[in-house]
Amino acid sequence: MKILVTGGCGYIGSHTCIELLENNYQVVIIDNLSNSKKGVIDKIKKITNKDLTYYEGDVCDKDLLNKIFDQEKIDAVIHFAGYKAVGESVKLPLKYYHNNLCSTITLCEVMASHNVKKLVFSSSATVYGSPKTLPIKEDFPLSTTNPYGTTKLMIEKILKDLYTSDNEWSIAVLRYFNPIGAHSSGLIGENPNDIPNNLMPYIIKVATGELECLNIFGNDYDTKDGTGVRDYIHVVDLSKGHIKAIESITNTTGIDYYNLGTGKGYSVLEIVNTFSKVNNVKVNYKIVERRPGDVATCYADSSYALKKLHWKAEKSIEDMCRDAYLYAIKNK
Ligand code: NAD
Ligand code: UFG
Repeated sequence: MKILVTGGCGYIGSHTCIELLENNYQVVIIDNLSNSKKGVIDKIKKITNKDLTYYEGDVCDKDLLNKIFDQEKIDAVIHFAGYKAVGESVKLPLKYYHNNLCSTITLCEVMASHNVKKLVFSSSATVYGSPKTLPIKEDFPLSTTNPYGTTKLMIEKILKDLYTSDNEWSIAVLRYFNPIGAHSSGLIGENPNDIPNNLMPYIIKVATGELECLNIFGNDYDTKDGTGVRDYIHVVDLSKGHIKAIESITNTTGIDYYNLGTGKGYSVLEIVNTFSKVNNVKVNYKIVERRPGDVATCYADSSYALKKLHWKAEKSIEDMCRDAYLYAIKNK
């Protein structure tokens, strides 16, 4: 099968391309490099010793998408392309609505006109808003607290309407929890250019001396040590979930939703301490005010993914911390 991977040069997309190639899928990437580098393509080829096709361009560009679907015999699409920074989405909502919605609508229009109706979509646990109980199950009420999250929820609704209008579609909506870590080769990983918003990239920049001190956003939550608790998942485990999702949509139709997490929650302090221990490096931190919009605790019930996709996360929090740091020091 030939899979079009939108945003395939990005953090999760690049790891998923490796899994696809290693499972003998053919891969076509479209990426506009708005948050990634072209060099990733060669690294994917080096790790897998396999070739892939790359188109540089925007998923909102209908002419380019038509050209790709005319030239390549695409069987299914994994749609990662989009903007993802929660804080920036509050400041620049139109940038987020434009990119995330237009790319998805354009993609689905071109897919439909080429009779390609198999889609895996990158959604997020952010669509659960502030859940009332834990762990989070797929049928929990949906709501959002920021424009980024709203784009994900709107896209989920668009995809549902699309399936209702045409039952030939087969769609898997994957709701990721907190992906961290990197490929064990240390060749690809997450490397934000700006000051990171997320915990692991920030810890790494403190550990490597690029930033002085981690700000821990609050230690007065109702959690084991007062700091926020999240469901961190190794990006390689997450990528493997996409292979299972592709398999699940191959010979069927419908739309289904899956939590991809480990089902375990770790606090900020547990992550900092584990990172220090496995990498033998000091991470300076101080406790500061809570970050507005943060929930105390968020973790998945991923039993539906186990039952339906036969997928479960396997790597430990130690693996995540070790692999994330290996990538950082190799690419300093
Ligand atoms: P990323 O920014 O590393 O990757 C996204 C890729 O898409 C980048 O390479 C970027 O250049 C590309 N891109 C963006 N808009 C594009 C467009 N219009 N046309 C072509 N290319 C475009 O992000 P990621 O962490 O790999 O996330 C992938 C997807 O998963 C995103 O949709 C994100 O919202 C979602 N997600 C990520 C997380 C996370 O914590 N990383 C959590 C939940 C959901
Ligand atoms: N944290 C700090 N200091 C930092 C960064 C984060 O203490 O510098 C804390 C946060 O308060 C939170 C935890 O570390 O308790 C994790 O924060 P992240 O920003 O890494 O992740 P979030 O859970 O806040 O958000 C992530 C993605 C969002 C997605 C959300 C739900 O970044 O895109 O998960 O899936 F919407």
